[in-house]
Amino acid sequence: MTETRIAIDIPDHPTSLVVGRGLSSNLASIMSRAGIAVSNRTVVIACDANVATQAERAESSLRAAGAATARVVLSATERDKSMDAVARIWSAALSVKADRSALVIAMGGGLIGDLAGFAAATYLRGVDLVQVPTTLLAMVDAAIGGKTGVNLTLPDGSLGKNLAGAFWQPKLTVADIETLATLPRRELRAGLAECVKHAVIDGEQLFRAMESDAPRLSEGDLAALERLVPASATVKARIVSRDPFERGDRAWLNLGHTFGHAIETEPSLELLHGEAVAIGCVAAARCAVELGLLAATDAARIERLLCACGLPTTLPAPVSAAAVRERMAYDKKSAHGTLRLVLPRSIGAVEIVAAPAEQAVRTALAAIGAR
Ligand SMILES: NC(=O)c1ccc[n+]([C@@H]2O[C@H](COP(=O)([O-])OP(=O)(O)OC[C@H]3O[C@@H](n4cnc5c(N)ncnc54)[C@H](O)[C@@H]3O)[C@@H](O)[C@H]2O)c1
Repeated sequence: MTETRIAIDIPDHPTSLVVGRGLSSNLASIMSRAGIAVSNRTVVIACDANVATQAERAESSLRAAGAATARVVLSATERDKSMDAVARIWSAALSVKADRSALVIAMGGGLIGDLAGFAAATYLRGVDLVQVPTTLLAMVDAAIGGKTGVNLTLPDGSLGKNLAGAFWQPKLTVADIETLATLPRRELRAGLAECVKHAVIDGEQLFRAMESDAPRLSEGDLAALERLVPASATVKARIVSRDPFERGDRAWLNLGHTFGHAIETEPSLELLHGEAVAIGCVAAARCAVELGLLAATDAARIERLLCACGLPTTLPAPVSAAAVRERMAYDKKSAHGTLRLVLPRSIGAVEIVAAPAEQAVRTALAAIGAR
């Protein structure tokens, strides 16, 4: 069992990420080595129904080390990312008389991580949390940075995503690469979009590594993923350590996301978040070329890498450019009605552009196939 440990220096909340294979079965010893007590501790495991077997193994390791455990199995749909699910985790904690020394383990993709993280942040005003991400997206993105939350139902019955939540840093994040073996290929590739985004922010070394590994990554090769996860997660860890509450550089992580969110919310497309981010990154790169910020050759490299990762780079069906543009105006990152885009300047540099020229935005939307 080889492990890579990455320190995440969040001010006042230093934490770390451990990446390796077969870690879920040895969770108790990994936690102990990170200074997290297990023996005689009450541990509530909130797990995604699709990783129930791995969660059972983790639970056995914790029991063998002397923990009293309770397990809640949750379904990972955005409808179920609700206060009801959080209440189920609180009830499980109460059923084993969990006090303030208790610990919540979130085992699943970003959805379960957000839910269980919020339950940990609020149970008895906050108990310890360990994240055990089981999707690529959660390993390199969602499980790092301490954002937790649930969706709320809006008055018209639609879902308002992540409208209630808290910043709550995990004590430890454990990414077991072997859990990715069961992740559907489409979900895996969606996670690769965030990795490409991190590589564009970070620079040539990571970008080239992804270019050379792309065929293996898109097919779920665990050795290639074991190389990628620590490198990609480090990019997010470094940025959130500098800006834990999203007041500055953390906005860089929204590269491709303003276009992406506006595409993702188009109901006719049925795109996963990562797929919309991939198309959004192509649009952002094209917009940057139009504004004279990015060389066309770099934009082409970004598009080629996304394509090599098995991701879409244009809209899968015709969509109105005007409708997408209108939704971009409502992006929560727009300040006082001014559109703000995170755009690449090169492989390794991004810039926040306020009120970009409308023609550049329209050309970018046309480039991804919006009409
Ligand atoms: N907190 C943050 O900073 C942050 C960042 C990005 C996204 N998010 C949130 O994360 C969620 C998306 O996360 P995600 O992309 O990880 O998807 P997800 O958690 O919705 O999981 C996707 C699917 O994969 C299944 N699954 C998970 N692990 C599996 C495995 N190892 N084997 C088989 N199936 C598995 C799940 O059951 C689900 O069906 C959204 O709710 C989003 O709001 C949070």
